[in-house]
Amino acid sequence: MKFKNLGVVALLMMALVACQKEPAKPIVSGEIWPDNEGVHVNAHGGGVLYHNGTYYWYGEHKSEKTSSALVGVMCYSSKNLTDWKNEGAVLKVVDDENSDIVRGCVLERPKVIYNEKTGKFVMWFHLELKGKGYSAARAGVAVSDSPTGPFEFIRSGRVNPGKTPVNMDEAALAAMDSLNLEDYKEWWTPEWYKAIDKGLFVKRDLEGGQMSRDMTLYVDDDGKAYHIFSSEDNLTLNIAELSDDYLSHTGKYARMAPAGHNEAPAIFKKDGKYWMITSGCTGWAPNEARMHSATDIMGPWTKHPNPCVGPNKDLTFGGQSTYILKVPGKKDAFIFMADIWRPKHPIDARYIWLPIQFQEDGTPFVEWMDSWTMDWFDQK
Ligand code: GAL
Repeated sequence: MKFKNLGVVALLMMALVACQKEPAKPIVSGEIWPDNEGVHVNAHGGGVLYHNGTYYWYGEHKSEKTSSALVGVMCYSSKNLTDWKNEGAVLKVVDDENSDIVRGCVLERPKVIYNEKTGKFVMWFHLELKGKGYSAARAGVAVSDSPTGPFEFIRSGRVNPGKTPVNMDEAALAAMDSLNLEDYKEWWTPEWYKAIDKGLFVKRDLEGGQMSRDMTLYVDDDGKAYHIFSSEDNLTLNIAELSDDYLSHTGKYARMAPAGHNEAPAIFKKDGKYWMITSGCTGWAPNEARMHSATDIMGPWTKHPNPCVGPNKDLTFGGQSTYILKVPGKKDAFIFMADIWRPKHPIDARYIWLPIQFQEDGTPFVEWMDSWTMDWFDQK
């Protein structure tokens, strides 16, 4: 009898051990994040795509001494968001001096989305032509049949030439039309800000297309995709609709926070409301994050206070936003991702990943955590 009971207990204990899954690994923002080869993940200014049970982290490859692109866009894959396998450079810069993506160009903030209709993976990124500083302000696009590439470069250019924003009515367009660049030679004056707000640079760039720098992509519930980028010399964000195949712009776009100087846009949607977190414009140096919300992606957008909470909250914990990932299969689970840049040693730039939390009224906030695991979403 005794022995029989012992057997049952042993069996129960074995079943318990078998049921216990491996504990989730911690995410420690700001530290080295080793990949499957023990090397710090090299995917900066990036974003994460979830496809068929696997996460793909795309980002800029950064080198020891320069932030210019010497390799291209890297991809890492993972099943759990903590263990990352290096899939290599999926969009490679080339050695052809006539190519827009020649080695030594600036290729930043790549994002990849999957198109259900075409079955293709589409990458957009910020491109600056080699040797031209940040003056080109172009958007580049590449496509692949597989999430791990190779991505084929299609083209780069300014955005939506000849098109005016949907959130400027006839009166606003007429007011813009009456502005003249020559009247605003001095920048940063109150009059100049007013003119920017009214579209001084939209008019300046109307013919050749709007400038496009820091950027993200967003696929809405209806499958429509949007390219969100810093335009007008980083003074105004554009939210631009992409074509059904995600490979071009439809010409429909809205200006957001004109003259507000926003960069590094990251967006998510919860309960029918869009939330966008951005940074100010201080180059590689961190600044205070901003947050906006809207019920229509084309606006109007409402400004909220800085969403960061905790030490160094006024400098986004030392980082700059890059992406917000909706974690599938978990309720209201979103991860805020940011980069801690190291301009003197670019390859050593670090990552901040923190869960997004919500106040009782639904307003998001991002609280610093020294360490957390994906289980946090199940326990909250
Ligand atoms: C930052 C921007 C980065 C990079 C950098 C260059 O403001 O977010 O992506 O362009 O400027 O100075």
